[in-house]
This record gives sequence, C-alpha cells and structure tokens, in this order.
Amino acid sequence: MRIAVTGATGVLGQEAVEALIAAGHDVTGITRRDSGVPIIEGRGGNAVVADVFDASDLARAFRGYDVVINALAHVPVGMAGLRPLAWREDDKLHLEASVAIAKAAAAAGVRKLVQESTIYLYPDNGSDWIGEDQPLSVRNQAFRPRVAEMRAAVDFAAPGRSAVVLRLGQLFGRDPNTTHALKATRGGDPILLGKPENYVTLLHHTDAGRAFVAALRADSGFYNVGGEPITKARWAKDLAMEAGVEAPAKFYPEITQAIVGTRLDTQRRSLRVSSVRFMSETGWRPTVGPSTPGWSRR
Ligand SMILES: NC(=O)c1ccc[n+]([C@@H]2O[C@H](COP(=O)([O-])OP(=O)(O)OC[C@H]3O[C@@H](n4cnc5c(N)ncnc54)[C@H](OP(=O)(O)O)[C@@H]3O)[C@@H](O)[C@H]2O)c1
Repeated sequence: MRIAVTGATGVLGQEAVEALIAAGHDVTGITRRDSGVPIIEGRGGNAVVADVFDASDLARAFRGYDVVINALAHVPVGMAGLRPLAWREDDKLHLEASVAIAKAAAAAGVRKLVQESTIYLYPDNGSDWIGEDQPLSVRNQAFRPRVAEMRAAVDFAAPGRSAVVLRLGQLFGRDPNTTHALKATRGGDPILLGKPENYVTLLHHTDAGRAFVAALRADSGFYNVGGEPITKARWAKDLAMEAGVEAPAKFYPEITQAIVGTRLDTQRRSLRVSSVRFMSETGWRPTVGPSTPGWSRR
C-alpha cells in the first residue's frame, strides 16, 4: 500500500516508518523541516516537507496515497510537563494539525486513517480491567484537543473510508521520557507518579511501530494497544534492573503528587488496560516487555 506518515521523525513515527517498510509498503514521511528528511530516509522511507497545519498543503502531499498514519505528538519530558505552556505544542498538534490531517486525507481520496491516541484518557479504574467501552475521563478543558482529534477521525470514517484510533499505552524504550526515568533511577531521584499498587500499561516503541502495521488490518474503531499491565511497584523494579542499580525507582512524595496539575495527574491513575480487541482483530502481540533485558537499547 502507499502510506503517508505524519510525525514521521518522532519516536512513534520513526518506528512506524521502519515497520511499514519491513512489511513491504511504500512509505512517505512528512516533516516540516529539511533536517527531518535524512531521519526518515534513514528508516527507509521517502520524505516530503509539508506544513501539518495547512490542509491544502497536506491534501497535495496525500494525493495518490491509500492510507494516512498520524503519529504527531510533542509530549514534555518528566516534570517539565508541570511548566506553564509545556503542553501548548502538543495541544496545538491534536486540536489543529490532527483535524487538518483528517480533512486533507478525506479531500485527497485517502481510504484509511490511522490516528495515534492514548490510554491516559481513561479514568482511574483501580485493579479492574479497562476495555474500549469504558467511558473516557475527558470533561476537563485540557482534554479538548484529544476529543477534537477523535471527532475528526470519526468524521473521516464516512462510507468507503475507515478510521482506526489507537489508544497507545505508556511508551518505553529508547525515547526521551524513559531515558530520563532511567537516569533518575540511577541517581536515586523520584520519578514515578501514583501508588505502588496502581497498574501501568506499557508499550515498547518497537511494538508500537508494529501496531501501526497491524492497524491496516483493523476495521474502523477504537483499539487499546499495550502489553500485559503490571503494578507500578513491579515497573519500579524493572526500571532499576534496566538501569543497573539495586534500589527500585522511587515514587514522588504524596505532597508533590497532590500538586502536579491536570495533565500529569493522569499519570497517577491506575490503568489496567486490555488490548484483547486489537490482538484478536489483527493478530498483533507485544514482543518486548519491561522485564525483557536490554529493552532500553533496542
Ligand atoms: N503513548 C505515549 O506514551 C507517548 C506517545 C507519544 C510520545 N510519547 C513520548 O513523548 C516524548 C516525545 O515524543 P517524540 O519524540 O515522538 O515527539 P517529538 O519529536 O517532539 O515530535 C514528534 C513529531 O511531531 C512533529 N512535531 C512536533 N512538534 C511540532 C510542531 N510544533 N509543529 C509541527 N510538527 C511538530 C515532529 O515533526 P517534524 O519532523 O516536523 O519536526 C516530530 O516528527 C517521547 O519520550 C515519547 O516516548 C509518549
């Protein structure tokens, strides 16, 4: 298939490009900057420079493609997410660029849209499982961009077209957020939010890349994508093991956790998320878990 990928130079996008090429697809990555071109070509894709906020520029770039995969994101690293305006870029990408991408894809005659989303829109569900039918916790204005993005994907799914929204687990691997977490663990600094008994659903970035390939086989709908959920106490030990230190990663003190604000508060939630729907519909399986030695170098 001919596939265009937006956000192709990011953690998710690069993995998606590489996995799609390996699966035999003809892949073009979109970047706003000339310096993004060698990154995409290094993963085996073709590169096009275009503005992801400009629907007509995008419609030109998407013409002749079967599928558009939108992997745009700009997630702040660690506690930088507490800073005022830290989420401004990420919000703008979801509120404006994702909407422009869905509209441009429809205008260009693209048949399928695969949209990256997140499990962090689900409410804390303790030790109970979370499936796709669980109502989302998106009342706060802070989640408006993600809601607008979902609506744009649903609108794209008119007759003759399909839209697959992937609610991805917390990425781990070689990415900036995990590298920061491993550094904090080595230094004995706190890094984890929530309680040790809470659940976290992780997704290695290589498995995320393969999920974009598997999504090509899925019908329109929302799908959770993550590995087997584990407790945060277990994740603290896995981080220590990978960091090469004895002491488990530390949790922030309750007093700090109480003031992290709406965006980082999502990371305090207990999210035991089931990906059974995605696995049974597409055959996708996670291959790298947090206890797989060397996961931060893969
Ligand atoms: N589910 C999850 O847990 C999840 C999901 C996504 C990201 N993350 C984490 O977030 C951290 C950063 O992710 P990342 O490295 O992928 O993000 P990033 O490099 O900041 O951005 C990813 C892509 O978005 C584009 N982009 C970013 N800001 C833009 C803007 N203002 N205008 C237009 N395009 C823009 C970039 O394209 P250009 O080529 O045009 O620069 C880039 O390809 C990582 O640690 C990652 O693991 C986690």
